[in-house]
Amino acid sequence: MNPLRNTGQEQEPLWREEVSIFAADERYVNRRQFAKFLVLTSAGMFAGNLWILIRSWLTGKTVYPIRPVALIGEIPVGGSRLFNYPGPNDPCILIRPSENEFAAYSQKCTHLSCAVYYAPGNGRFECPCHQGYFSARDGRVLQGPPQRPLPRILLRRQGDRLIAVGVDLQTEGA
Ligand code: FES
Repeated sequence: MNPLRNTGQEQEPLWREEVSIFAADERYVNRRQFAKFLVLTSAGMFAGNLWILIRSWLTGKTVYPIRPVALIGEIPVGGSRLFNYPGPNDPCILIRPSENEFAAYSQKCTHLSCAVYYAPGNGRFECPCHQGYFSARDGRVLQGPPQRPLPRILLRRQGDRLIAVGVDLQTEGA
């Protein structure tokens, strides 16, 4: 400790408390340095998050591949077919509820990702893990623990082929 500090004979300048002339005091971080560190760290984190936000705005929406997933003749009325979209590890299920009606959804249950299967008699997808049911008409939850509808695979019909063109996560109104 600096012996001159407590003499009380003359007023010491404030900087003396911040800047020690003793080498032993250099290892201590004073309050001002610590506050400066906190402010700079927070400013850095704020700038980083702002950059991530701006970049996500600039890059826009996810671009999905356009890929044929089935031939119409391969799916009987009331039947289903499995495929992967948009990636090789994204299982989906394509159904044909009537002659000219096709729909596809992610096959992963939105509860804990068990594979749902199509129950055409009930007009729904059923998850065997916890009895979660989803409507085959629009993927919404009918029963069970899932809170979100099944993501819908957007299809386009091209001649005798069905083409997947995107994914609707159906998060609005969920
Ligand atoms: S994983 Fe499907 S209901 Fe739980």
